Amino acid sequence: MPGLVIIGAQWGDEGKGKITDLLAEGADVVVRFQGGNNAGHTIVRNGETWKLHLMPSGILHPNKLCVIGNGVVIDPKVLTDELDELRRRGVDTGALRISANAHLIMPYHMLLDHAGEMRLGKLEIGTTRRGIGPCYADKAARLGIRVQDLLDEKILKKKIVAALEPKRLGLRDFAKDPQLDLQTMTEEYLTYGHRIKQYITDTSKLVCDHLDRGEMVLFEGAQGTLLDIDHGTYPFVTSSNPIAGSACIGAGVGPKDIDEIWGITKAYSTRVGAGPFPTELDGPMAADLRERGHEYGTTTGRERRVGWLDLVALRYAARINSLTALALTKLDVLSGQERLLVATAYRGPEDAEFDHFPYHQTVLHHASGIYQELPGWEEDISACRSEDELPQAARDYLRFIEEFVKVPIALIGVGPGRDEVIWTKAGAATHAGSTAALAG
Ligand code: IMP
Repeated sequence: MPGLVIIGAQWGDEGKGKITDLLAEGADVVVRFQGGNNAGHTIVRNGETWKLHLMPSGILHPNKLCVIGNGVVIDPKVLTDELDELRRRGVDTGALRISANAHLIMPYHMLLDHAGEMRLGKLEIGTTRRGIGPCYADKAARLGIRVQDLLDEKILKKKIVAALEPKRLGLRDFAKDPQLDLQTMTEEYLTYGHRIKQYITDTSKLVCDHLDRGEMVLFEGAQGTLLDIDHGTYPFVTSSNPIAGSACIGAGVGPKDIDEIWGITKAYSTRVGAGPFPTELDGPMAADLRERGHEYGTTTGRERRVGWLDLVALRYAARINSLTALALTKLDVLSGQERLLVATAYRGPEDAEFDHFPYHQTVLHHASGIYQELPGWEEDISACRSEDELPQAARDYLRFIEEFVKVPIALIGVGPGRDEVIWTKAGAATHAGSTAALAG
């Protein structure tokens, strides 16, 4: 009954798409359990680049069941566009299943997201403006529109009216926006309903049935631990829970169904949007790292903020998620640096030093990294396929991380392609299935 959860151990954009795509080789089912089209996965396969926003990464594997769970918020326009694009490029989407209980992003959610950010001005969160926050807010307020509502015109209309009522003030500026016309909106969403009807089902039961049959289910997280609404750098967070525990809620399985939890981290750090970032770099060093790592958002194209690897935050992610393994991506981006810094503690206000991730917003906002310096390496490592082939300094860098975080590194990314990885002994032992599939 193997359930494997993959989550981001930083601020998102860690390369989860590629790792999920690799592990999907050995999986029977791939499930997304939170977030929406604020996520963006880039997968490079056979020289072709795929940018997915809503679709589980497993969709590129033929006949792999792909599930959009109840915890995801769905913009049906994005979903149907993504389906069209995949079909146009020859991908069979027949194995997609969508939870009838997933919530829908409505046109007013996007307008409210945009207006909310404008109102905050300098204090803005830097959201993706995809309507994610307002949609989850409606879910909590019990005013959400769910996938199942798309199949009944009367219910859909009634629920839209109820959802719009308390938003009149916030939407005043958009009163004449044709997107908000009740009839137009209802018709548009009914059309989406017809288009995705064949995929809608009780995905919780479906996933549990597969787990009961002993099949391997991969739960694919979006965003990252430090963007978690409860455990991240609130309020500079997303509106869902990207941590491992959320896989149970967002897919409808029990905690005992999870056997392994992989945290994905880059070999350095990035963040998009506003909020604290204790190891952030600026100046030419930041520009260089951004260029080498192509650190621009998949979803919004925004420049990512970049910084040194933050081991204080990574150890926190290991604890919050009960990580059983780490996958470390983009190690190749660090080639050519004479020295590498990793934060092993923070310096806070009044010069206080601490070695844990601070719970208090004010402390965190003033925290900066206290670094351990490690030697870098010159060599291009993108052709390395085993740890032994890596330069000694790269191996020492990996060992330092493992020992500090106390979680073994199972997989190392040395380039963007799906074959540009190194499976360590820890990874190969746990995922012989995927390794064999890769070798084949
Ligand atoms: P929202 O999820 O659009 O509400 O944005 C809230 C915060 O999460 C912003 O700082 C976004 O930049 C960030 N965010 C949302 N999705 C992602 C992602 O997939 N990768 C990285 N950051 C994200």
